[in-house]
Amino acid sequence: MTSHSAQQMVPLTARRNGPLSGRLRVPGDKSISQRALILGALAVGKTSISGLLEGEDVINTSKTMAALGAKVERVGEGAWEIFGVGVGGFRQPATALYFGNSGTGCRLVMGAVAGCPITATFDGDASLRTRPMLRILDPVAQMGARAVSMAEGGRLPLTLAGARDPIPIVYRTPVASAQIKSAVLLAGLAAPGATTVIESEASRDHTELMLRHFGAEVRSEPDGPHGRRITLHGQPELAAASVVVPADPSSAAFPMVAALIVPGSDVILTGVMTNPLRSGLITTLREMGARIETLAERGDAGEPMADFRVRGSELRGVEVPPTRAPSMIDEYPVLAVAAACAQGTTVMRGLKELRVKESDRLVGTADMLRANGVDVEISGDDLIVHGKGGIPGGGTVAPHMDHRMAMSALVMGTAAARPVTVDDATPIATSFPGFADLMRGLGADLS
Ligand code: S3P
Repeated sequence: MTSHSAQQMVPLTARRNGPLSGRLRVPGDKSISQRALILGALAVGKTSISGLLEGEDVINTSKTMAALGAKVERVGEGAWEIFGVGVGGFRQPATALYFGNSGTGCRLVMGAVAGCPITATFDGDASLRTRPMLRILDPVAQMGARAVSMAEGGRLPLTLAGARDPIPIVYRTPVASAQIKSAVLLAGLAAPGATTVIESEASRDHTELMLRHFGAEVRSEPDGPHGRRITLHGQPELAAASVVVPADPSSAAFPMVAALIVPGSDVILTGVMTNPLRSGLITTLREMGARIETLAERGDAGEPMADFRVRGSELRGVEVPPTRAPSMIDEYPVLAVAAACAQGTTVMRGLKELRVKESDRLVGTADMLRANGVDVEISGDDLIVHGKGGIPGGGTVAPHMDHRMAMSALVMGTAAARPVTVDDATPIATSFPGFADLMRGLGADLS
């Protein structure tokens, strides 16, 4: 088996350095990049992708698609071509599938493998090995797949035997998770008849939109006040398609919040995906008084996008309802940084899922703020930040192999009175290669 030795830790420090300005495009959306590779591998013919995020998570998924029989080629910067194997056509991989840090890659591929008559071993880095996989194994077992072996508590490494004749199911997700929903839909591709997923809070719908883009029949209807019922017609002919990946709003969140909290800043972020199921952060920041202006709006391959002008703003504390969590689930750490710079208290409710991300982000966010002199508390699953209009800083943050924690801490350092250090910035490469250079290009002092 390949060895995936731990990289050397590389500390990075952010220091306050005057207003940020300029125009930038952050890398391609991670969720869409992952799905484009997986659906391209399950389609017949040549799928061309442009703007693919070339971060470690996505590169790992591309390797697993090749191991499962697809032909995967990088033909230029962010330009990739996939020759797929067709629905149900994955071949038995010769070695374990390694997903690095990526829960999305691992869980979505688990779903896709569950619908094929092959056995595959799934593994990842120390962070991914701690993350719960029963949330995928439970529904795919109902569809006929079987976990042959797994680490304690349903963790990686685990070996999954896919279903020879997958059974279509109706599945109600226990938590609002696009990863669970997507895994069930991907397993359902190979099942005859209708596979239905019901979620009580709508999660990001990139899988549904892209399945349609590749020719599958997917129906989505409201279910209850905030939920959705999604039905896929099984055994479609997935036809290769071209996919243009918009800029990732979860990556744009970092320069966006930095521009808001560094006084006098004026930054334009271009081509950012504006799918409403990913837009909770912008809604919340605007409620806090953020000066975020939507410029050119457009759309591509079923996903809307826009440019945003972001200016240094006086923010105030707000209450963020739990129903908004799925649409900004990855953005709470950096929102908490904005909240610390605001005047007044921000209450972020219903954050249980943050505990099972790349690290425990509920505890990690509170620790990060506290280490930098911010008054913060956790109450049950809620995070409460008492904003005093600025951050003392001076702390060192351990991101615990979590890219978004590392970037949030560095954003904090761009506005804090004293420097903020992360003890290891290497995890940033999983989702946002070039982060430090792009921030420096805006005038941030990162060294
Ligand atoms: C993702 C879904 C979210 C999110 C993750 C990406 C996806 O996870 O946190 O970064 O691409 O489907 P959950 O669906 O588990 O909430």
